[in-house]
Amino acid sequence: MPGRTLQDKVVVIGGASRNLGSLIAKECAPDGAKIVVHYNSDSSRGKAEQTAADVQKLGGDAITHQGDLTKVAEVERLFDAAMEAFGEVHCMVNTAGMVIKKPMVETSEEEFDKMFAVNTKAAYFMMREAAKRLQDGGKIITIVTSLLAAYTGLYSVYAGSKSPVEHFTRALSKELFGRNISVNNVAPGPMDTPFFYPAETDDSIAYHKSSAMNGELTKIEDIAPLVKFLLTDGWWLNGQTVFANGGYTTR
Ligand SMILES: NC(=O)c1ccc[n+]([C@@H]2O[C@H](COP(=O)([O-])OP(=O)(O)OC[C@H]3O[C@@H](n4cnc5c(N)ncnc54)[C@H](OP(=O)(O)O)[C@@H]3O)[C@@H](O)[C@H]2O)c1
Repeated sequence: MPGRTLQDKVVVIGGASRNLGSLIAKECAPDGAKIVVHYNSDSSRGKAEQTAADVQKLGGDAITHQGDLTKVAEVERLFDAAMEAFGEVHCMVNTAGMVIKKPMVETSEEEFDKMFAVNTKAAYFMMREAAKRLQDGGKIITIVTSLLAAYTGLYSVYAGSKSPVEHFTRALSKELFGRNISVNNVAPGPMDTPFFYPAETDDSIAYHKSSAMNGELTKIEDIAPLVKFLLTDGWWLNGQTVFANGGYTTR
């Protein structure tokens, strides 16, 4: 069965300069993976280069590539860069995302469009491009959110713009049956990164913590090994959204 090891496998990671994406890159490196460390913002360039250097130190290979993945041409350029550097692509992990927390009545058209551009459109076209470019036996993973299983207000546009990805994943996983490519989502709980805090208050952080085992937030260290598992021995999981959150939400 191809694809159960990451030795010499080319893994395109959307949003890999820091936090979860960077740790996923470093988790894959000791197995000898070749990583395309994608970043978006100019301010992320240094961290993307550091991630690539860390991957090389850990036994993998890496390039960096910048692109705004809300533009389909830039998604295509990301995969072009992977092909130019490494000649083939085996896996795609997309961690790109953006959060907003506010009542629906206060949400603007601009905020709605921005959230759906990153969380929905970029996710869709990253999956579409991966489906075109990946070798048979490949893996496609998108990071969504445990809020997809929550009954809560205030995240209408964040959770709402991540939720279509579940349907994209179901459809694509089925369409790719004949190519032995598994397609899944990972849905972390509220995760202890700078992404989480600006949307929350002290009270809401305390509530999120109290809603999972040990009164803890999810950590990137809880998620990166799960992503690696899905890229390797977890290949039989297909079309799923895996909620990894210490019991914060279940479905
Ligand atoms: N932290 C949490 O509480 C939490 C919980 C559940 C799920 N998640 C999800 O986990 C993923 C990773 O989050 P994180 O906590 O590791 O935070 P993060 O480092 O801020 O990750 C977000 C990533 O999205 C990228 N991005 C934003 N706009 C983009 C665009 N237009 N094109 C391409 N990339 C873009 C960012 O790249 P640049 O910085 O280079 O712009 C960044 O690498 C996200 O999808 C998030 O929704 C987070």
